[in-house]
Amino acid sequence: MKLNIKGITIFVEDDYLSMSKKSAEIVSHRIANKPNSVLGLATGSTPEGMYKELIQLYLNKKVNFDNITSFNLDEYYPINKDNKNSYAYYMNSHLFNHVNIDKDKTFIPNGKTENVDKMCKEYDQMIYDVGGIDLQILGIGNNGHIGFNEPDVDFELTTHLVKLDDKTIEANARFFANIDDVPKFAVSMGIQNIMQSKKIILMASGEGKAKIIHDMIFGKVTPNLPASILQLHNNVTILLDKKAAKLIIN
Ligand code: F6R
Repeated sequence: MKLNIKGITIFVEDDYLSMSKKSAEIVSHRIANKPNSVLGLATGSTPEGMYKELIQLYLNKKVNFDNITSFNLDEYYPINKDNKNSYAYYMNSHLFNHVNIDKDKTFIPNGKTENVDKMCKEYDQMIYDVGGIDLQILGIGNNGHIGFNEPDVDFELTTHLVKLDDKTIEANARFFANIDDVPKFAVSMGIQNIMQSKKIILMASGEGKAKIIHDMIFGKVTPNLPASILQLHNNVTILLDKKAAKLIIN
């Protein structure tokens, strides 16, 4: 099912698998149209299926990552890139190790840097120097965060150090042995970086995301729900499974 609400294209797919296939299809079309695309990448549970599909498309010679540059949205801080919970490790194991992307052109905020401010400025500059992000992939937190832009966000920020919301720490504890092991900070692209992307796709699956999806689309644009800012972007596609779409379809 395809909807258009407030200028936002919304695809409601039957389940997680078809949502993942649909998003992989959008990404591969984008790459076919512009083989040197700059992708903005997300981690977390939601895009795992999409990465699997992209690997499959690559193995079937339907997509070629040869000329792709990528920037990840975020990374925990502090964290070593060899730590299994780092987003650097996640990207290698879920995508980069399985496709022909040039790892020298994949960028993830450095979770180990001594000088965070300098690293953030350099990250913004690198995105700017390659001409900005063509296609940004997003998940959404239960609290409405995108990247690690937590409620009460400053919409003007670019890449910056964030103190993680307690809800985010709780939600992400499932990946760690103990909740106390979840880093308290992260480095994240800011809302400004995300809003400057030429096209954005946001994915959500499962009933737990239904309310936040409803509110980000129908509520007012507010820093209390960071994803609501996407109502002001002119090229956003939202991909949902039926459960996440529960409150926006009858
Ligand atoms: C990950 C990220 C986060 C996640 C969000 C949803 O790079 O930026 O905003 O997209 O926390 O996470 P999942 O998909 O695990 O529900």
